[in-house]
Parts: sequence; C-alpha cells; structure tokens
Amino acid sequence: MQNASPIELNANENSLGMSEAAKQAIVDSLGVAFRYPDGPRAALINKVAQINGVSEDQVSLGNGSSENIRTVVQMLLDKSLASGQPLQVVVPDPTFAYGEMYATFSGVPVVKVPLTPETYDLDVPALQKAAADFEGMTLFYLCNPNNPTGTITAADEFKAWITHAPNHHYFILDEAYSEYVTDPSFESGIEWIKQGLAENIVVVRTFSKLCALAGMRVGYAIASKEMIATLESFASMDNTNLSGAVAALATLNDEAYLELSLRTTNESRQMVEAVLEELGLRYLPSQTNFIFHEIQGDVQTYIDRMREHGILVGRVFPPVTSGFNRVTLGTPEEMEKFVEVLRLFREKGWV
Ligand SMILES: Cc1ncc(COP(=O)(O)O)c(C=O)c1O
Repeated sequence: MQNASPIELNANENSLGMSEAAKQAIVDSLGVAFRYPDGPRAALINKVAQINGVSEDQVSLGNGSSENIRTVVQMLLDKSLASGQPLQVVVPDPTFAYGEMYATFSGVPVVKVPLTPETYDLDVPALQKAAADFEGMTLFYLCNPNNPTGTITAADEFKAWITHAPNHHYFILDEAYSEYVTDPSFESGIEWIKQGLAENIVVVRTFSKLCALAGMRVGYAIASKEMIATLESFASMDNTNLSGAVAALATLNDEAYLELSLRTTNESRQMVEAVLEELGLRYLPSQTNFIFHEIQGDVQTYIDRMREHGILVGRVFPPVTSGFNRVTLGTPEEMEKFVEVLRLFREKGWV
C-alpha cells in the first residue's frame, strides 16, 4: 500500500506548487544573477509596503519569516545585555517552535504557557501573568492563527492587552497564515502598527504558505520605522536573494494564482471537515492550511500507520501527546487519498 514517494501533509507547505509566473520570473532573472539583488529587493519591499498600507521603511525582508523571528530575539538580547535587564521569552504551548528555539540557542529563558484545556485556545491571563511575575523584559511570541491548532485569537482578547502593554513587554505576532483567515473577529497587528498604537510589536508574515514559496525562503517583518531600523542591523545582508525576491513579487502580481491557491485549500478543508464529521472526529475551526483534529489514540502510532499507508502527517505536539493530530491541507487530489485512508483506519478500528 506504501507509495514510492509519500504524500507530504506534515509541514504546512502548499502542494499546489509555485505559480507559473514565479517560475518564469526566476528563469528570466538568471541573466542578472551575477549582480547583487538590490533592485528586485527594493521592488519587493515597495510591493509589500503597498499591499499592507505601510511605508517602505516599515518593512524588513527575511530569509523566510524565521529569520525575522530570529532578528527580534537577537535585538532584545542585545538590549538586555546592554541595559543589564534580564530577558525572557513567553510562548503558548504548543505553538510554532522557532520563537522558543532561537531564544534557547541564545541562552534566553523560555516560559511555556499551556493552551486552555479542551478548547486549545491561547490562555491570555496566564500569558500576562508569566510576564507580570518576571522582573525584566518579556518577549511574547504569539502566532495568530496559532500552529498547530489552526485557530485564531480574537482582536477583543489581544488588542487592548497588546496595545497597552508596558514598555518592557515586546510582541512578535506571527501571522504566517493570515491570508486564510475568514473569521471577522480577527484583526491583524499591522492595523495597530498603522494606527500608531504599537511601538513594541513586530508582525511577521511569510511567502511559504499561500504563495507556495517555502523553498525560496522569503518572509518579512512589519513594525514602526524605528523598530525596523534596529531589526535590520541584526539581519544578514541581502537575506532575500534574487530568485526569492523576483518569485515573491511575481506571485503577488499573479492574482489568478492567489485566488486558485486559496480556493483549492478551501476545497481541501471542506473535504477533510466532511470526513471528520462523518467519522465523528472532533476538529478545531481551522483558519489556516491545516486542521488539528481528533484521532482517538496514541499520536505516534497514528503517524506511523499513516506513513505505512503513504501519507506523512504532523508530528506529536507536546503537551498534546494523545488524541489529536495536525494534517496539512494539500491539493484536493491529495486529500482524496487522505480521506480514503482515514475511512480505512475507521474500518480497522484505529481512529
Ligand atoms: C507560524 C509559523 N511561522 C513561520 C513559519 C515558517 O515560515 P518561513 O518559511 O517563512 O520561515 C511557519 C512554518 O510552518 C509557521 O507555522
């Protein structure tokens, strides 16, 4: 039953593949690839600023948004060392690992605040308490929507807290999946930055999801211009290379592709939700290109069985070690196969 190459539904990539315009842009750029990428980077910054309604000096490109996350951690560590004020990073648990990872690599202590039991929401009062209990600077790393749950935190839970936080509290709002959000209670941190409410916020976004450019490594940060100027000094020079810059720009200009990308992911989401309903397996309301859903049982056993049936699904996300798994929404054709295997697992009594 095992495929020669498995269906990869484990890393929240976009298996639709890159837009044809992006591929062509890369080919067309090869003739000037012996030069540094200043022109295409400037064009991309201009476009990113334009679509987000901010000025160019409020945008910092990254070698993937992962680099933008790292620059914020490094910037605050530098500030901490210079001022003698200790720094901690506070993260919900589980969440995307890189905030914690970059902090740990740099020797910054990390406090993990479990999601609420049953509903798997961010526990905002507990997050706030983790900072209140600490004498020093706190960097919160908050994904909205969160990964692996795929759910959002509503603006009325976030906005008043984040925009009125004391000066020594900083926030990374990781909005990697914001293009998929339909819930009207979501509001991007970019709005608060534009309203001048948020000096201590950095919003990070990526081209790895809707734009299907995970391998090209393009992301960006948006913040106040003072914050961006400081962050830039912690980024590596020309971090978004020529191919990444032209591919990202071409994708943003390819409206038909962006519409197709969103539509096929939405179709895949409906297919997976339908089979989960049919099998009576609970799932969280996904606002992303993945679904966190019940599997009734040990997660590692489920992952192994899926792999044996030719499908790679999400890893174990401690502390949720039992009962739930994350599946990435691949193409509708890929999800047909996933649906078939999940039904088979039910026949076998495995889910
Ligand atoms: C919340 C979140 N942020 C960032 C990333 C990585 O983004 P990039 O590829 O831009 O480094 C991911 C990838 O899965 C993610 O889930």
